[in-house]
Amino acid sequence: MLNHYSKSVLAASLSLLLSASVSAQVTDTSFKDTLAVSELKLDAKVLNYKADASKGETLANQRCIACHGDAMLGMMKTYPDLKGQKAAYLFKQLIDFKRGDRSDPLMQGQASMLSETEMKDVAYYYSTQTASNLSK
Ligand code: HEC
Repeated sequence: MLNHYSKSVLAASLSLLLSASVSAQVTDTSFKDTLAVSELKLDAKVLNYKADASKGETLANQRCIACHGDAMLGMMKTYPDLKGQKAAYLFKQLIDFKRGDRSDPLMQGQASMLSETEMKDVAYYYSTQTASNLSK
């Protein structure tokens, strides 16, 4: 049976472990630790690049908002809301579009105009936003 002291040591180390893994999630904006991203075989420079949310915001407002902004999302039933989606997922979709591994005439055109580091910036930016829930 654990005594009170060892229970609190255990609880303290558990919460430390937990907060360490939570903050690792928030601070690693390279998304390189997922199997799906590592399988994309990106250049080391791109793989290690850490996304910049403010660059992503600028890009989103220039090139994506016309279709992924609330006004269009409210009208077009098949246009996805990117806000609040996982960054690594969005990033992978953009790579897939650019490489032709996912096909959509609109998005393949859009993705072909983005560099891989810009994809990280814009994917990370959208992941930090709150979903609109306009898709009904
Ligand atoms: C001309 C309209 C249009 C523009 C501009 C546009 N998109 Fe899209 N996007 C779409 C449509 C439509 C889809 C859904 C494609 C499908 O059905 O497979 C989509 C899908 C996506 C997806 C996949 C989402 C998912 O849930 O799988 C991502 C990621 C994405 N867009 C990112 C972007 C980014 C980043 C930009 C700006 C650089 C952008 N899009 C600009 C129309 C657009």
